[in-house]
Amino acid sequence: MSRWLSATWGWMDERFHVTPLVEKNVTKKLVPCTLSWAGCFGGLSLLCFLVQVFTGMLLLMYYKPVPDAAWDSVAFIKSNVPMGWLVQRIHVVTANLMIVLVIMHGARVAYYKIFRKPRELHWISGVVLFSLTLGLAFTGYLLPWTQLSYWGAKVGTEIPGGVPVIGEMIVTWMRRGDTIGGETLGFFFALHIWILPAIASAFMGMHFMMIRRTGISRPL
Ligand code: HEM
Repeated sequence: MSRWLSATWGWMDERFHVTPLVEKNVTKKLVPCTLSWAGCFGGLSLLCFLVQVFTGMLLLMYYKPVPDAAWDSVAFIKSNVPMGWLVQRIHVVTANLMIVLVIMHGARVAYYKIFRKPRELHWISGVVLFSLTLGLAFTGYLLPWTQLSYWGAKVGTEIPGGVPVIGEMIVTWMRRGDTIGGETLGFFFALHIWILPAIASAFMGMHFMMIRRTGISRPL
């Protein structure tokens, strides 16, 4: 099996030249020798995002985004789908972990003042990524359509109501009507499964491109 795998890998590598790319960017890439364990938080946040995309794709095979079926479909995933409970738990726990890690990553950056020239845009794109992470958690919370999700969404969407003049308009826009209902669920579902992940992927691409440009903040 391993001989077959290495022969296949050799065949691919001969054509696509993957090894030099992996060596340059991963295995032989120089990183600052002063980098502490706190330097892992950005990479771990990315790992959490990838786990969320993967487990989210699996959950999507059974989840139904309509009020009459949403709760039942999540219950079905947890008790009838093989390993469904595990995939659902990983999705929920990783969502919480990602928020903690992104906060710790931002805190490290703030503590070492890495937001200063030439890394202002790393910081700004980071703040957007933090907001998107919270947005993903908030929209995902409604999807199981439990009492907690319902009231969480009701309280959460009430907050922008405090904005002068346009507050009420924002609340109605977020709820897709006057109350939390099927329209809200459909809207949050669309935000959660593709609109926010797509925007987050674009900002992550920008974040990483800029980190590549400036290099990491410590001396090599
Ligand atoms: C989904 C969220 C995020 C992901 C996946 C992410 C990922 C990363 C990665 C992999 C790095 C390079 C390694 C490191 O220095 O840790 C990095 C660096 C950086 N990030 Fe983030 N990040 C996120 C959110 C944030 C936030 C919330 C901020 C600040 C508000 C931020 C600001 C920065 C800055 C300034 C750097 C450069 C650090 C340096 O040069 O040492 N990022 N990010």
